[in-house]
Amino acid sequence: MTFITAGKLILRPIERGDAPRFAELCNDETLARNTSRIPHPYSLQEAEQFVRRSEAEFLSGQESRFAVCLDGEIVACTGVMPNSDKSFELGYWVGALYRGKGIAGTAAKAILQFAFEKLGAELITAGHFTDNPASGRVLEKLGFRPTGEIIGTMSLARNCDVETARFELRREHFAADPGIRIES
Ligand SMILES: CC(C)(COP(=O)(O)OP(=O)(O)OC[C@H]1O[C@@H](n2cnc3c(N)ncnc32)[C@H](O)[C@@H]1OP(=O)(O)O)[C@@H](O)C(=O)NCCC(=O)NCCS
Repeated sequence: MTFITAGKLILRPIERGDAPRFAELCNDETLARNTSRIPHPYSLQEAEQFVRRSEAEFLSGQESRFAVCLDGEIVACTGVMPNSDKSFELGYWVGALYRGKGIAGTAAKAILQFAFEKLGAELITAGHFTDNPASGRVLEKLGFRPTGEIIGTMSLARNCDVETARFELRREHFAADPGIRIES
């Protein structure tokens, strides 16, 4: 079991019992509209499928998705999905009540460190919908650079392609945080 400690946050793999909490946090139109794969409304059944898939994909190395916990409660989620051998795509969201407190930045920093140190990543890619500048700011603060590409990405909640700005972070531009502890 991998645990990552970053400040007050603990990141741990997603478990079956997390489904009700994910159902509660993900049934949020703002969250769904700013991500590609979260439908709205979001049911407990969808959350159950999500946690089952997350467990299986973590074990098979397909996608490393973490529950981000504050004071023992899940408040956010972040993950990296392989694009190829040494390249991964970053994703994250934060529950509505917990935004604007630096949680996305801290959690994403922790999973980037995990990807560079434990998964052998050389490159992390990411994107944000151009009408979601807060996510662009999170990427900028982490050291991501725009690739210059603007593409369309399907959003399940909007049921259409959404204009997306693409970013990347190379290993040599990532500054590890010695305060982040990764235990596995
Ligand atoms: C985007 C999101 C992840 C940010 O989470 P968060 O925990 O609030 O982020 P942080 O507090 O770490 O940082 C947010 C930064 O964006 C800035 N910001 C907030 N709203 C902004 C806006 N409308 N325009 C520009 N910057 C904005 C904040 O000021 C902060 O920057 P600062 O530290 O320099 O002040 C969160 O709002 C969220 O989950 N939204 C819904 C799902 C989503 O968008 N996921 C990302 C998909 S790419």
